[in-house]
Amino acid sequence: MSDPTTSDTKAYVFDAYGTLFDVHSAAGRLSSEIGPEASRLSQIWRDKQLQYTWIRALTGRHRDFEAVTSDALDFAAAVVGGIAPELKSKLMSAYMKLDAYEEVKGVLSELRSRGAKLAILSNGSPVMLEAGVNSSGIGDLLDANLSVEEVGVFKPAPAVYQLAVDSLGIAAQGISFQSSNRWDIAGAKAFGFRTNWINRFDQPDEFPDMPADRVLSSLLPLLEG
Ligand code: 2OP
Repeated sequence: MSDPTTSDTKAYVFDAYGTLFDVHSAAGRLSSEIGPEASRLSQIWRDKQLQYTWIRALTGRHRDFEAVTSDALDFAAAVVGGIAPELKSKLMSAYMKLDAYEEVKGVLSELRSRGAKLAILSNGSPVMLEAGVNSSGIGDLLDANLSVEEVGVFKPAPAVYQLAVDSLGIAAQGISFQSSNRWDIAGAKAFGFRTNWINRFDQPDEFPDMPADRVLSSLLPLLEG
């Protein structure tokens, strides 16, 4: 199996939510206001957010990621109960400025210093991605910050991965795609990218017919060449 970090990798493209940004840091920051159900709320919120993107991709009824994130929060809050409207808006604001994982800035800086092109390719809306990139201080490391809004459909639609090829002007085989979302890796593999699954929480593997080229526990091994 080819190693996606070999020298013929021309660009590293990163999923954002779950890969660069910790999606649970929003509820984590507000856990004292949410109460003991904070992590359950966060998990339902994330699961529903992703489910909504898949339904909208399959039906063609697109709403942007901010809208489906808000819809998913409404559902999670209804399940958990006791989440006031003011707390919901605080949670949405926190989602615009999620914590970046600790190795992110250092790894992207080093990859850039080695001459690689770097990009985000995400379901996030342009407003969300701009806010997230600015708050994590990685804006000047990116050659492109690509939102699915440019093609109007969520991952894993092939048109999304094609957006990275078109924007960077690099063939799929020259792109190393990193995501913590195994279903996103499946889509990227099916499209033709080299794929690194960033399995941060040691999840069991899935989609054996659309395998990751490598399974890494963080972005750090990308620097091992
Ligand atoms: C992203 O597109 C899949 O939510 C993940 O950033």
